[in-house]
Amino acid sequence: MGDMSAEIDPFHAIAVSRLAHRMGAQGQSVIHMEFGQPSTGAPAEAIATAQHVLATDGMGYWESMPLKARIARHYDEAYGVAIDPEQVVLTCGASPAFVLALSCLFAPGDRVAFARPGYVAYRNTVKALHLVPVEIGCGAAERFQITAAAIERLDPAPQGLILASPANPTGTIIAADELAAIVAVCRRRGIRIVSDEIYHGLSYVGPARSVLQEDAEALIVNSFSKYFSMAAWRLGWLVVPPALIDAARARMGNLFLTPPSLAQHAGLVAFDCRDELEGHVQAYARNRDLLLAALPALGLKRIAPPDGAFYIWADIGHLTDDSMEFCLRLLADTGVATAPGIDFDPVEGRRFMRFSFAVSTDRVEEALRRIAPWFAAQVRVGVHLG
Ligand SMILES: Cc1ncc(COP(=O)(O)O)c(C=O)c1O
Repeated sequence: MGDMSAEIDPFHAIAVSRLAHRMGAQGQSVIHMEFGQPSTGAPAEAIATAQHVLATDGMGYWESMPLKARIARHYDEAYGVAIDPEQVVLTCGASPAFVLALSCLFAPGDRVAFARPGYVAYRNTVKALHLVPVEIGCGAAERFQITAAAIERLDPAPQGLILASPANPTGTIIAADELAAIVAVCRRRGIRIVSDEIYHGLSYVGPARSVLQEDAEALIVNSFSKYFSMAAWRLGWLVVPPALIDAARARMGNLFLTPPSLAQHAGLVAFDCRDELEGHVQAYARNRDLLLAALPALGLKRIAPPDGAFYIWADIGHLTDDSMEFCLRLLADTGVATAPGIDFDPVEGRRFMRFSFAVSTDRVEEALRRIAPWFAAQVRVGVHLG
């Protein structure tokens, strides 16, 4: 492909997951805590609607106006922000919404900043579009989140910034005053913001603020994959300012056409399945409490308690400097699949791992039963002291 092809890194958790599934197929009992996907399935009413649509509707390419209007109403109800339904572009999940957002705002060679650790696809989508990733190293002192001061220090200023609050892999939320300060620095320095709000609704410390509350020019990415428990339905959305509606629609139409019709029907109904969905959040809150209570006794003391999402990012630097080997060994010995930190942080990630607690509470309890003796037996390998 010559010099024009972008170098895209592998997603290492997929390798862990493939092994976990092979173990499961061979009859071993495996607990899947490697991926951030709810184990609960779509809300019952959404499934019932989809079944009815399957039986009665031929389905073609389609853009659901009622769903766009419902999403616009959601911004009013949840955040007090008025948007026109036309500002909502329906997508096949958050992943293509990033492609639309980044390609609308930036030209090849532009610099786009984001937190390290961060979601693996930020770096790789930025690279695939021939933009230049600018990783902002965020440590435990900042709870692994971007600060206004860190944006201020970037020299030269990047053209773009991706924010994620709550974030993957840490679940941490940017405090309201810090978020306002970040938006102010970006406005002053001419940095456009793409905000990944895919974990909104999954919060244990009160609702997260939308960047749209601070910045009407920000592009907002969201999806049905997390709170709505509909990852495989491939449905999400992008909110764009009025000036970018045509550009975003042109990209969606050419690159992806429309999201699945079936998913759009189901997604509209899912908005009104609050009781079932809030039940999931309560289960995640219990799982979070169980893990936060148990992990320190396993020696995992350096963790930032997640404010939202369903992850715990744990420093395992006292045990290994090869998180991939560590996670594979943990899986082989206990049947508990987790994600190695290298996916989220190419610099420090060799000494971190991520637990996803988007599983049922009894699975979390069983996982803790299995990993407790395993962690107790670990001694650090790979580093020679003295
Ligand atoms: C932070 C973050 N953004 C985006 C995505 C992609 O989600 P989707 O399934 O909507 O494409 C994920 C998936 O794990 C994620 O963790």
